[in-house]
Amino acid sequence: MGLGEKESSNWERNQEAIGSLVKKTTKGYSMKILVTGGSGMLGTAVKETIKNHELIPTDIHELDVRKVEDIKTYERKMPDLIIHLAAETDLEKCENNPAHAYMTNHTGTLNMTLMARRLDIPIVYISTAGVFNGEKDSYTEYDTPDPMNHYGMSKWYGEMAVRSYHKHWIFRAGWMMGGGELIDKKFVNLVYAQIKAGKRLIYGLSDIYGSPTYTKDLAMTIENVISAKAEYGVYHSGGMGRASRYDVAKTIVEALGVDVTVTPVKNGFFQKDFFCPRSKSEVLENTKLNAMNLSLMRSWKETVIEYVKKDFKKT
Ligand SMILES: NC(=O)c1ccc[n+]([C@@H]2O[C@H](COP(=O)([O-])OP(=O)(O)OC[C@H]3O[C@@H](n4cnc5c(N)ncnc54)[C@H](OP(=O)(O)O)[C@@H]3O)[C@@H](O)[C@H]2O)c1
Repeated sequence: MGLGEKESSNWERNQEAIGSLVKKTTKGYSMKILVTGGSGMLGTAVKETIKNHELIPTDIHELDVRKVEDIKTYERKMPDLIIHLAAETDLEKCENNPAHAYMTNHTGTLNMTLMARRLDIPIVYISTAGVFNGEKDSYTEYDTPDPMNHYGMSKWYGEMAVRSYHKHWIFRAGWMMGGGELIDKKFVNLVYAQIKAGKRLIYGLSDIYGSPTYTKDLAMTIENVISAKAEYGVYHSGGMGRASRYDVAKTIVEALGVDVTVTPVKNGFFQKDFFCPRSKSEVLENTKLNAMNLSLMRSWKETVIEYVKKDFKKT
């Protein structure tokens, strides 16, 4: 047998082993899972998706990750796993108030990691494609972070806090979308709000790229990785393919079937409102999830269409 053949049959055996583990663990074993930031975009999808386990979802009023007293209260509930989603995700707010960004995204994450360490349980942390500087077209888990704004830096410090304890799964996500009109704080809802307000001409940046990431797919992928008891570490988990903001806006308009023109514009056009520096490329390659056959991330276009049709109305 040639070397290539041997490698390929080992790989296939690994896939079978992972597959059987997923079935075994999802059927018979229920965990108590503490979720921070549970009212946010991804938290909402996690609550809708993870059904085989007992969830303890919390928001900032119940468990503020900066407050040691809150943490002690939830530590007494003895969870088996932490899904730590709480974060300050407003880039402009982080840029204007770095101390707030680092307190929430780094210190808060360190607090949750220390809870996980004391309980000897794994922690899931969601990082971002914004840890990279955008000089490459796309990024794998093997590229070196070099954030270009305070949000990205605070999330990278958060990663380092989580990495200081070995029982971690870190998922780096792209431009998040999910939750509909009431919960989505990001691009899809911003575009929808303009259409709803009656605008018939909207603008989209055509020279910065990312991996639009549907919260539903990400929540399912997180569950898959946990259930498979996959190797701890960092996993890229963006929607597949690459899109500019202009591409996404056009897809939203098409999915809604509205008579709105989308015009491409260059980076800097929205400088007044979106002054935080953003990298040219936040495109993620899900190298490890794909190699381990654990990804449930679909193409960005398919999920933008599904999301818009499901959660937004033609106006
Ligand atoms: N949104 C994206 O494009 C994106 C991309 C990549 C990675 N991520 C990461 O994915 C995770 C989930 O984000 P998301 O998209 O679901 O954002 P989100 O909707 O902003 O959810 C974050 C939640 O955390 C809460 N929170 C803020 N400060 C907190 C604190 N001190 N203690 C407890 N909760 C606090 C927020 O409450 P308030 O709403 O009251 O502030 C919000 O409910 C975050 O770690 C984020 O950094 C997000």
